[in-house]
Amino acid sequence: MLKLKPREKELLEEAKKASANAYSPYSNYKVGCAVRTVDEQIITGCNVENASSSLTICAERNAIFKAISEGHKDFTEIAVFVDSEESFPPCGACRQVIYEFAPDINVIYANRNTVQIINIKELLPEAFILKRN
Ligand code: THU
Repeated sequence: MLKLKPREKELLEEAKKASANAYSPYSNYKVGCAVRTVDEQIITGCNVENASSSLTICAERNAIFKAISEGHKDFTEIAVFVDSEESFPPCGACRQVIYEFAPDINVIYANRNTVQIINIKELLPEAFILKRN
């Protein structure tokens, strides 16, 4: 098993706690995400599903949008936990959103049995970007 640094372990623990709040009666997947801001705050989110399935939001986007809404724009690490035996790397939409705010961030993702760390550039090569003026 991959050995995490204490700060990575702490972030993953927060993601795990957030997964308990998942609203996922349709898929039963409980996902939690935690992002660490440059000023060392941890913001979490979980997946929230909807009967109209396209309205579902993933844990990663929920956490990032929450952080942005609270005035944080710079992040050092992101951790995702799924309470499952399946591997659960962030979906394509979440990769693009992570990239928007943290194009060089390490993504820690874990399930009940395994932990992996991969840079967002590897998860999303050739990301879509627009030049900002
Ligand atoms: N889900 C996430 O929370 N993050 C991802 O990156 C992939 C999928 C959620 C959405 C839905 O509630 C459930 O997992 C199954 O797709």
